[in-house]
Parts: sequence; C-alpha cells; structure tokens
Amino acid sequence: QQKPYTHIQRGNFNQVEGEDLAVFERILTSSGVITDHADVDRYNQDWMGKFRGQSTVVLRPKSTEEVAAVLRHCHQRRLAVSTQGGNTGLVGGSVPLFDEIILSTELMNDIISLDDVSRILTCQAGCVLEQLNTYLEPHDLMMPLDLGAKGSCHIGGNVATNAGGLRFLRYGSLHGTVLGLEAVLADGTVLNTLSGLRKDNTGYDLKQLFIGSEGTLGVVTGVAIEAVQRPAATNVAFLACNSYEQLQHTFQAAKHHLGEILSAFEFLDEGSMDCTTANLGLSSPLQTPAPFYILIETHGSVQEHDFAKLEGFLETVMSDELVVDGTVAQDAGQASALWGIRERITEALQHDGTVYKYDVSLPLPVLYSLVNEMRSRVASVATRCVGYGHVGDGNLHLNITSSEPNEELFGLIEPFVYEFTAKHRGSISAEHGLGVMKPHHIHYSKPAEAIHLMKQIKALMDPHGILNPYKTIV
Ligand code: FAD
Ligand code: MLT
Ligand code: ZN
Repeated sequence: QQKPYTHIQRGNFNQVEGEDLAVFERILTSSGVITDHADVDRYNQDWMGKFRGQSTVVLRPKSTEEVAAVLRHCHQRRLAVSTQGGNTGLVGGSVPLFDEIILSTELMNDIISLDDVSRILTCQAGCVLEQLNTYLEPHDLMMPLDLGAKGSCHIGGNVATNAGGLRFLRYGSLHGTVLGLEAVLADGTVLNTLSGLRKDNTGYDLKQLFIGSEGTLGVVTGVAIEAVQRPAATNVAFLACNSYEQLQHTFQAAKHHLGEILSAFEFLDEGSMDCTTANLGLSSPLQTPAPFYILIETHGSVQEHDFAKLEGFLETVMSDELVVDGTVAQDAGQASALWGIRERITEALQHDGTVYKYDVSLPLPVLYSLVNEMRSRVASVATRCVGYGHVGDGNLHLNITSSEPNEELFGLIEPFVYEFTAKHRGSISAEHGLGVMKPHHIHYSKPAEAIHLMKQIKALMDPHGILNPYKTIV
C-alpha cells in the first residue's frame, strides 16, 4: 500500500469465521469459495500493483440468486464485501483494503439474449467486454464502448465505474446506452430493472444510481445495453502538431469536416510517445518527433464518402499548418498498430516503477496547462510527467512516474493537481472513479449539499455500510 492510504482504520465489521464459510459453501458449492492463500492472492492485488488487500476469501457466484443469498448473509453478519469484476480499475476500488470478502463476478459470464431488431444485448455482469464484441460481430454490431482494458474488464465493472473510453465522443455515456440493470442491494434484495425499453419515465430512473457507484450501492448482476452498428468503413489517422494551440484548432477542424463520422479524437504528448518507445519498444509511425500527437478515427458506412471527408480535413489542417506531419492507416493491421501506441501508454508507464495517475476533466483551453505546470513543479524529482487522453471529451490523463514511491514527489503533486482542477471548475475524476484514492477529495468537484445527499443515499441503500467500505463516499 502506498503511504497516503495507510492511515485508514478498519471499520467495525465482523471477521469471516468457519461457520460463515460453511454457509457460503452451501450457497455456492465449494468451487465458488476460494480460501487457499496463494489462490486468493491475485484477487487482493490491483492491476497497478499499488493497492493490496488482506482478504482471506473469494466468493464466485454464478447467478443473481447466489449473489442475493451471499449478501443477505453478509448483511446479517456485518461482513464487509468488496465486489470485483476484471480488476482493471485504476483507483484502488476493485481490491479490499483490509479483510473484506472479495465477491468476484468472473463466473457470471452468460449472454442472456440479443434482440437483433432493437439491438439490445442482455447479459450477466461478469461478461468480458472483448468477448461481448466477439459475440456481436456476426450480427454486424459492436459494443458502444471500447477501452484498452477490453480483454479483461467486465461489463459490470464498466457500468460500476461508468467507464468512458476511446469512443465516448461518438457513442456517448453508459448513462445513455445502458437501458436496463439488475442489481442486488446490500441486504440481498434483488432489484430487477432489466428491461430493454428505450423510453421509460415511470418514476425515478433507479438504474442510473448504480452506473458509476463503484460497487458502493449494490452488486450489478445483469446489464441490458444498446449495441451499435459495426461501421462498414473505418479510417485511422495519426497526426503531429507543434503546439497545443494547433491541436485545439485541429479538433475544431475535425468537428467541422468529419462531423457525424468522427468516432475518436485522442491525443498524446511527446513524453507519452517516448514512454511507449522506450519501455515497450514500439516505434513512432512518424519520422520527426513533435510535442503533440493526435489519433483520429472515423466510423461510417461508405468508404469513398468517408475518405473524401478525411482528405478534405487533412488538406485543410496541412495547408493551415495546424498539422506538421501525419499518416493514414492503409489497412486494419496498420490501424491497430496506430491504436496500439495510444492504448498501451498505461502499460508502458507501469515499467517506470511507480505511477501517480490523475484523470481530470478541464475546459479545453487550459487542459494542457496542467501538464506544463506540473512538469515544472516535479522536474527535479520525477522520472516523467506526461499527458494523454480523450481530449475530444475534455478528459486529460496526467501521469507522473518515479522509480519508487516518493513522498517529496507526492507532496509536489497533491493537493496542487486538485486545486488547479477546482480553480477551473473541472472534475477530479473524469472516468476512473474515486475508489480508495480520492474519496477525501470529492469536495474539489462537488458541493457540500451534493455530498450530503450522496451519503444519505448510501446510508439508505446500505445501512451497515458493508459494500466497498473506505471507497467513493466515506
Ligand atoms: P474492477 O476493476 O474489477 O472494479 C472497478 C470498480 O467497480 C470497483 O469499485 C468494483 O468494486 C466495482 N465493480 C466491479 N464489478 C462490479 C459489479 N458487478 N457490481 C458492482 N460493482 C462492481 N477506464 C475508463 O473509463 N476509460 C478508459 O479508457 C480506460 N482504459 C483503461 C485501460 C487500461 C489498460 C486499464 C488497466 C484500465 C482502464 N480503465 C479505463 C479503468 C477501468 O475503470 C476500466 O478498465 C473498467 O471499467 C473496470 O472494469 P473491471 O471489470 O475491471 O472492474
Ligand atoms: C486511457 O485512456 O488510456 C485509460 O483511461 C487508462 C489511463 O488513464 O492510463
Ligand atoms: Zn481514459
């Protein structure tokens, strides 16, 4: 555990005893209950190797009824529970902090139905995002979200974090694409709103509460989501700009020329590119280094039309000298190599040792100033200070690395990063959530009244506070 999290005290929960294990084995059969220390270990450790719990038991239900029976028991016995999907979360939400029971959705991976006409896919929460895409492919459909962790993350984890990802710009938020949800509340009550209706204004839209609640209000067990048309034509371009100013004008030009076919507008700075080349051995597709790179993708239905639009856009940004170099993928292999550079920055940074990771929303004109200001603050202590992300959505990933945890460096980063964000009325968590990393900083982005109401909702839905304690709303 990194220093800042060691001050948190264990809550007033009971410890798991032999009788509890006997109950769990009756509910789940023995293969659903893991207690072997070596087997439990990997569930205790988060993807970044930054957060580690001390749980002694992992429960792997296969059905909603099993989740309900487990939670009913935990609620009665005051046993704390940490729900885990694919364990790719980046804020320490997916692993316990102490001895919370780990409830893994990895065996809940059934696809329940696909309505080919309305395009609504209904599945269990433990389905892996990439596998859902593979399932949809023969139907000429795809999932409305995509992210670098697609090979491991679960749709339930995506919903619980309200994951944004690489095509948010085009296909929007899970708050819009998730049409129905099934969740089990802390006391074992099953809330089934798994309808596939596009319109439904009967009272409060309760499913929205679970989207982005990071496992603190209930366990998501089923998801009905609107799949989208797989594009007949895809183009990917990788461009270089000499300044952040030019990058912003390039974004304006992309919106203007590419309009409805623009499906991604991602950026990385020179430091991020250097990190993927140095740490992963990837090579830049462009000859000359530049301070900023942009990845643009289009999704459309007629290749000639889309290509004509892309050409018009490229001509404009080149002749206006907004873009100084660029390449367009000629086939799917080249497109995925270009995407690889952007998607693998997260992995590349890990090789530096310790990563201080921030995920903020800021008004576009000041978005990159945060990286510049941070870089000059940490220059003498950090290995790297880089910026990349979903710039088309105003979402910056600011990452500072060092070979090992460094208190002095941490003191230079926080609270400055949060103060800067609050000063510009940004969000301290654009898409990764608060997890265990940021609950105490929520006030930088939300007013006291909103935080108070969130606490009331948490107390109402989970009166003993057993679901993901120490995280999100504390
Ligand atoms: P986990 O990591 O297991 O859990 C995350 C949180 O959700 C935890 O609080 C957990 O308790 C809760 N949770 C999980 N399942 C359930 C459930 N069924 N019911 C209730 N609560 C649950 N995020 C983005 O938004 N955009 C990105 O582009 C992006 N890219 C990434 C790239 C990489 C390489 C990595 C490692 C992570 C990335 N992430 C991104 C972060 C992460 O949020 C997502 O990967 C994903 O949404 C987490 O899903 P998961 O199944 O791994 O959830
Ligand atoms: C991304 O956009 O690459 C992800 O959110 C992961 C990260 O922030 O590193
Ligand atoms: Zn991201």
